[in-house]
Amino acid sequence: MSKKVYIETVGCQMNVLDSELVMASLRKAGYGLADSPRDADVILFNTCSVRQHAEDKIYSALGRLKILKQRHPNKIIGVLGCMAQKDQKQIFQRAKHVDLIVGPGQLFQIAALLQQIEADGRPRMEVSLGRRDGSRIRIARSHESFDPLRDPEMRPVRCQAYVRIMIGCDKFCTYCIVPSVRGPEQSRPRRDILAEVRQLADEGCKEVILLGQTVNSYRYVEGDTSWRLSDLLEAIDATNGIQRIKFVSNHPSDMTDDLMDAVRDLPKCARYLHIPAQHGSNAVLRRMKRGYTIEEYRAMHARAIESIPGLAVTSDFIVGFCGETVLEFQATCDLVRDLRFKNSFIFKYSERPNTKSAELYIDDVPNAVKRRRNNELLAIQNAISESDNQPFIGRDVEILVEGPSKVAAQQNDASQISQLTGRTRCDRIVVFPGGREHIGQILPIRIDDVNAFTLFGHLTSPYAEPEMLPLRT
Ligand code: SAH
Ligand code: SF4
Ligand code: F3S
Repeated sequence: MSKKVYIETVGCQMNVLDSELVMASLRKAGYGLADSPRDADVILFNTCSVRQHAEDKIYSALGRLKILKQRHPNKIIGVLGCMAQKDQKQIFQRAKHVDLIVGPGQLFQIAALLQQIEADGRPRMEVSLGRRDGSRIRIARSHESFDPLRDPEMRPVRCQAYVRIMIGCDKFCTYCIVPSVRGPEQSRPRRDILAEVRQLADEGCKEVILLGQTVNSYRYVEGDTSWRLSDLLEAIDATNGIQRIKFVSNHPSDMTDDLMDAVRDLPKCARYLHIPAQHGSNAVLRRMKRGYTIEEYRAMHARAIESIPGLAVTSDFIVGFCGETVLEFQATCDLVRDLRFKNSFIFKYSERPNTKSAELYIDDVPNAVKRRRNNELLAIQNAISESDNQPFIGRDVEILVEGPSKVAAQQNDASQISQLTGRTRCDRIVVFPGGREHIGQILPIRIDDVNAFTLFGHLTSPYAEPEMLPLRT
């Protein structure tokens, strides 16, 4: 019988993609999938270090496996991803039953490392160089990730795929751990990306989501030609079979006109941009070293909204950053009220070791205040989201159906799905009654009701050919 792997993933889309690729490579090496740690021969955690809380969750999950490992010493426990890169050997010290530590740049070695551990029972660790541990080229090379192996069965949503176009980050926002765990910014060769998209389309994938920490900084130089994200979008738009294209996350400073024009003009581009502002106050943006003023952010946002009809913009915010005063926090609330984001992801500042803000500033906003500000900003945002969803009632939208809704998935009846979920072209979530045959299709839905997070509707024409539908929001 083949050995079985259980994998748990936290963190951003990069990690979701990494886990998909790890599982594809392990399946190729003969491993099967396990539904729980108990049934597994190999237990993997793909980890995130962006906030302390994400790390705490993994360390306590590891703690819970201690007894299982004592009873079954042959089970292999592995820690992958950003926390593996950040904590390295310390993980062996904190959780002695861990056998394997692999950074994001070494994931392609996992099958071989597992074989070595199975053979001699000795722990293994493979990580990339730190940002000060050599020449830029050597550091960059040590972070290069692997993207060739795709296995449609390993994708959470079959008709949708993440495609990495860049890795790493050179912005060094003072609060952020990502540049040190994911290494220098590197854009993937254009032809590799397009070949991967072609392969995905041939496998029936309808939507690609291009990934990069600052995806709109993409720049690939080949001979005399330099390719930007807008050039990539144009090429992907011309790929038969692909019907929708999204990309995340954008840095506000790199929102150039050619990119906005591409989103406006290319029929397959989602009318949706995630452009994290992080804060509404210039003083805090400066302390964060974000590289723009709030006036510049507002002007960029206005340009986007004016030039792209039906555009939805989302943002990330950090509350309780070092020294954040009441007035500074109010500036963030004002920004959210003024710009009416589709939604905002709000995070309490979490000090990360060896970042500039940990070195330069004191993490002086008490946790209770961070929590209160988080809730206050969330309430403002939710009221906006709900009110801006209201005009959708009675309207027809076109959605790509992703799968069973959360409720239907919990009911766990694989044959008969009653509630499905999908997304509009502007990335709003839509829930409607339907069956398995609708998954992966682009369908027309009439919206009957809304709340802050979801539109609820019904199919207007279940047999319509996707190509024949007019393009709507
Ligand atoms: N590369 C993306 C986001 C990376 S991390 C970008 O630049 O937009 C995702 C989000 O986590 C960030 O946008 C930020 O809002 C939040 N974040 C990053 N570091 C954090 C920290 N130390 N504490 C709290 N939130 C943080
Ligand atoms: Fe982190 Fe800033 Fe880079 Fe985003 S742009 S990954 S927040 S350093
Ligand atoms: Fe977390 Fe690493 Fe992504 S730190 S947010 S999983 S790049």
